[in-house]
Amino acid sequence: MSDSNRISPAETEAARPAAPPMRMSRPAPETSGPADGAALPVGRPARVLDPTALRLLTVADLPAYKALRDRMLSRHDHAFTSDAATEQSRDASSYRSRLHAEAGGRAMFTLGAWLGDQLVGVLTCEAEERPKVRHVAHLVGMMVDDDHQGRGIGRALLKEAIARLLQAPWLELVTLSVTASNAPAVALYRSEGFVAYGVLPRAIRQLDGHYLSKQLMMLSLRESQDAQPDFSDTENGSTLAL
Ligand SMILES: CC(C)(COP(=O)(O)OP(=O)(O)OC[C@H]1O[C@@H](n2cnc3c(N)ncnc32)[C@H](O)[C@@H]1OP(=O)(O)O)[C@@H](O)C(=O)NCCC(=O)NCCS
Repeated sequence: MSDSNRISPAETEAARPAAPPMRMSRPAPETSGPADGAALPVGRPARVLDPTALRLLTVADLPAYKALRDRMLSRHDHAFTSDAATEQSRDASSYRSRLHAEAGGRAMFTLGAWLGDQLVGVLTCEAEERPKVRHVAHLVGMMVDDDHQGRGIGRALLKEAIARLLQAPWLELVTLSVTASNAPAVALYRSEGFVAYGVLPRAIRQLDGHYLSKQLMMLSLRESQDAQPDFSDTENGSTLAL
């Protein structure tokens, strides 16, 4: 990952002091729109959730990250591409690559929602390194602990991630995929401005042979004539980019 892909150079892993928590009760980031002034859909305001706070995860948070992730994957098998058994066999340290661009993976950051010292929600943002797709970021691994769902934590994570991505001037698009039948997650993403650009049938084949479709969604961070879904290339058969 090139240096210019660092979204927040100060937020490096080693001995990083705990960043001051960002209160989820802060106003929704209406002021953090694109540099060119184009209006982004900002969705509904995040609810007031003190003392929950958002901050980037560090190495010290990886055991808590793994515990939350293992719990959520085992309880919400349909919601995730990763399977619980494989992930449970991983060491917490193996998720270090999800912390920041310098950690050897694709991640720009993983955001955590905290209730006191309890990690109750996470969301990871990944970046592309190849020059032709460097303007596209991806959101993965969104989860909010079952005991704390429905309180605005998922929305706050999503808003904060988008606000951070808007600070990266090279980024234009954010994508994610979501199990098509996952109505709460689809509703959340839609309400924050994501639009569906396709459905991948049989995207997931579960161990019992049952298939699940994935809805593919995108958010345009900056206005562009090409920013909205455009399937014209596909219609003339010229698009199969690998
Ligand atoms: C999807 C998930 C992240 C949402 O997090 P959350 O903190 O519960 O969501 P919020 O409280 O911020 O709600 C945000 C919006 O999501 C939607 N939503 C949340 N729960 C919902 C439900 N049970 N039914 C329908 N819509 C729901 C609503 O649009 C809601 O906005 P509203 O309250 O203004 O109507 C959480 O339910 C979760 O972790 N689910 C299991 C794992 C998962 O599905 N991850 C997503 C993988 S793509």
